Amino acid sequence: MYRNITVHTLHVELTVMANDKLYTLPKLPYDYAALEPYISKEQLTLHHTKHHQAYVTGANAIFEKLDKARKDKADLDIKATLKELSFHVGGYNLHNKFWENLAPAGKGGGGNPKGELAKAIDEEFGSFERFKKEFTLGASSVEGSGWAILSASATTHRLLINQIEKHNVNVYPGFRILLVLDVWEHAYYVDYKNDRAKYIEAFWNLVNWDAVNKQFITHLKK
Ligand SMILES: [Fe+2]
Repeated sequence: MYRNITVHTLHVELTVMANDKLYTLPKLPYDYAALEPYISKEQLTLHHTKHHQAYVTGANAIFEKLDKARKDKADLDIKATLKELSFHVGGYNLHNKFWENLAPAGKGGGGNPKGELAKAIDEEFGSFERFKKEFTLGASSVEGSGWAILSASATTHRLLINQIEKHNVNVYPGFRILLVLDVWEHAYYVDYKNDRAKYIEAFWNLVNWDAVNKQFITHLKK
């Protein structure tokens, strides 16, 4: 039985067609060409329909393998299976976040942080410029493939920049993810080749600060 699942109620919403047990690729909240000139139609189309889709397929295949093994009472390499599952589910969830925290430049994307988030950034980092500098350095120095993340502690509400390697290494349990930047080469190679720094610079024109602020306000209420 299929039903509509709203990932969360933000300014930007991803409506995911999902059945009760498996993942499906969400629709983007904008057209494939909408993020140009910073992310091209070709780049975004590939990223969404091939790479994000691969994590949908990968996660579902593992759940199907788990279901079958349990039904057949068969043994599995549990360690390897769980590691692989963590990779695919991490990839699936982080890409959902990434699409949500982007918007077309000048139409919700770019500019400065807003509301409570702006205050918290000033308090934690001293200024938006300092935050941008630290986040940019965090993104440019992720080893290999991974993500730069802005998150907030569930305990102290302090903001933290962290690096997730691959999709699942160096995750901070209990930290709410507010903003993500995909720095896998598959995210930028069509447009920027191996120039990750140029891609990171372009990213600031697309950040949907309204959506990120709403994430933060939701976090504060918990
Ligand atoms: Fe990606």
